[in-house]
Amino acid sequence: MSNELPHSFATQVKAPANIAWIKYWGKKGPQIPANASLSMTLRECVTLTQLEATPSSALKLELWFDGERNLNFEKSTLSFLNDRAAEISLLGQFSYKIQTQNSFPHSSGIASSASSMAALSYALGQLLNDHGHKTSNIFIGSMARLGSGSACRSLEGGFVTWGENSKVSGSSDLHATSITSQIHSDFLNAKDTVLVVSTSEKEVSSRHGHGTMNEHPFAKSRYFQAQSNFSEMLEGLKAGDWEKVGSIMEVEALTLHALMLTTKPGYILLEPKSLEIIKLIQIFRRESGLPVFFTIDAGPNIHLIYPESAHSKVEPFIRHELLPFTENGNNAIWDSMGEVGAQ
Ligand code: PMV
Repeated sequence: MSNELPHSFATQVKAPANIAWIKYWGKKGPQIPANASLSMTLRECVTLTQLEATPSSALKLELWFDGERNLNFEKSTLSFLNDRAAEISLLGQFSYKIQTQNSFPHSSGIASSASSMAALSYALGQLLNDHGHKTSNIFIGSMARLGSGSACRSLEGGFVTWGENSKVSGSSDLHATSITSQIHSDFLNAKDTVLVVSTSEKEVSSRHGHGTMNEHPFAKSRYFQAQSNFSEMLEGLKAGDWEKVGSIMEVEALTLHALMLTTKPGYILLEPKSLEIIKLIQIFRRESGLPVFFTIDAGPNIHLIYPESAHSKVEPFIRHELLPFTENGNNAIWDSMGEVGAQ
């Protein structure tokens, strides 16, 4: 590590959100996942972060979100920065101004913490590099993971896993691993149309949700199921088998919400309109025979996942049948697999 003195530094970073197809739900120790997860990086849902750092005798932070000072985000980011400064003292010798904006609604279950913590960690990596520290992607991934587990997956484009497992060589609990080169080309243009049922802040945080898994009556069987879902989905992804991958993806999404329903006290993040959308997707799939599947993050919004080849038939279905159930009858984000991670 370098002894270089702190000097002013500024950078701008763009980081994508990602949507998990195999869910991370439950952790141990310092953000160590209880099971391996697998996600697709998005193209349109991104966080843009500008970071300015000026030398200071003590760590200070001003955080602006969407052009306004945001004291809530400032508090959590300051605590993240203080923790990183405890490990790397150089990071404690700056006054930071962070200006950040998302291309999508935050706190509504579209993993805004993933893209924002990936962007911030990437920017801090650049600051460290600029001061002579040699930071690797693995190091930045570990930093992002400590901010928000799923954030480490946003450092890579395409398909990404996180969590040690026997199926992905080089896999680790500490950082993510790209698996895009192993994935069948039929998945590499996957679409994700996010049907935004509500942009209200969710009532229960993912942090709380992960915590409930410590005492959850189904935790052991969930981790066992996640492991076998992970292996089977990976096989399906390599083989280009949409039916196999899609059916596991839906089980994963419904299991995540079932775990919320069956903890004590149970809670529900889905809205009646989320259920309407899910049922319509199932009917459309049955009637059209098209490989159209859903996944859901920790919120009420539904991600419709399908191959690009089905787009011309799926688009009218979305517009005529699903959009009426979204916020204001017209709130969808037309996204697809993004090839790049934070940059
Ligand atoms: O990264 P966190 O701590 O916000 O948790 C993410 C949890 C899920 O989004 C529900 C699942 C996942 O793997 O992204």
